[in-house]
Amino acid sequence: MDSGIKDIDKQHQIIITIFNDLTDITDGKKPLKTLNLILESMTRYGQYHIETEETFMKSIGFVDEEHLYEHERFIEKTIEFENQDMSMELAEAAHDFLYGWLTQHITCIDKRYMDFYKNLPA
Ligand SMILES: [Fe+2]
Repeated sequence: MDSGIKDIDKQHQIIITIFNDLTDITDGKKPLKTLNLILESMTRYGQYHIETEETFMKSIGFVDEEHLYEHERFIEKTIEFENQDMSMELAEAAHDFLYGWLTQHITCIDKRYMDFYKNLPA
């Protein structure tokens, strides 16, 4: 989704590359032993991205409690994944979770502040 906010768009692209890495594991194109690193980047980069978004929302005066709650859940979930024993089931669970995030959170929840930003007077 093109939000018109360059940094955030770039970050969403990077999250898509993390998702593609997870897909490569579940498709057997990448070894399972790389899962640990991918989950680590999903947590760390996710946290960094969430901080960027929340700072941005504050800067434009946009308040959305549900959004902050979803971010908290994302962080909890990714830490939970990272702390589990590496397995193909875990790779699939992380893959499905991130797929849900890309299709639901970015397209629906993030869209709210993007629309708010677009409609701000110049
Ligand atoms: Fe968000």
